[in-house]
Amino acid sequence: MADRPNILIIFTSWSGNTEALAEAIAGGARGAGNGNVDVTVKRAGDTGRGDIEKASALAFGSPTYYSYMSGEMKTLFDKALPFRDAFYKKPAIAFATGNGGQQKCIESIERILEFFEVTFVQRSDILSAGLAVQGKPDEGALRQAKAIGRKLGDAGIAYACSLGRKNIITG
Ligand SMILES: Cc1cc2nc3c(=O)[nH]c(=O)nc-3n(C[C@H](O)[C@H](O)[C@H](O)COP(=O)(O)O)c2cc1C
Repeated sequence: MADRPNILIIFTSWSGNTEALAEAIAGGARGAGNGNVDVTVKRAGDTGRGDIEKASALAFGSPTYYSYMSGEMKTLFDKALPFRDAFYKKPAIAFATGNGGQQKCIESIERILEFFEVTFVQRSDILSAGLAVQGKPDEGALRQAKAIGRKLGDAGIAYACSLGRKNIITG
C-alpha cells in the first residue's frame, strides 16, 4: 500500500470517448480528501499486478465491442486471476461508452468485478448516467462522472484508513 491513498482509473479507448470519461472520473477523485490522494489514469494494457495491489480504489472503463468489454480489458482480467486477492473488498466502479449497447459492456465488467469481490461504490443498474454513456460524453455526463469519481476517491481514502487502523490494532 502506498503512503497516500491511490485511486487507479483503468481504461481502454480507441477514439477518445471512454478516455474522456476516465479523465472526468479522475478529476472528481482528485478532489477527495482535500486533494490528499494520488490519482492514476492508466490504459489497461499498461496495467499490471503491482498497480492493482497498491490501489486503494479501482475504476475500469471500456468501449463496447460486440456488446462486451474490449479485448484489452478482458486480457487484464484474464491475467488477474492469480492475484485476485488484490481486488478483495476494494471500492470499485465500472464505466463504459457505446452506441447504445454500453449497458451490456458495463455489466460484463461488473460481473468480473463481482467475482473478484470488490465493494461497488455505484452500480450501473442504480444510476447509469455518468457510468454508461452513449457516444461522446457531453457536459452533463462528464459532470456526473466527476461526481462518481469523487465518491470513489472518498471510498478509497476510507478503505486506506481502515487498513491503517487494522495495522495499528494488529501491531
Ligand atoms: C469493433 C467495434 C465494435 C463495436 N461494437 C459495439 C456494440 O456492440 N455496441 C455498441 O453500442 N457500440 C459498439 N461499438 C461502438 C463503440 O463502443 C463506441 O463508439 C465507443 O464510444 C468508442 O469508445 P472510444 O472512443 O473510447 O474508443 C463498437 C465499435 C467498434 C470499433
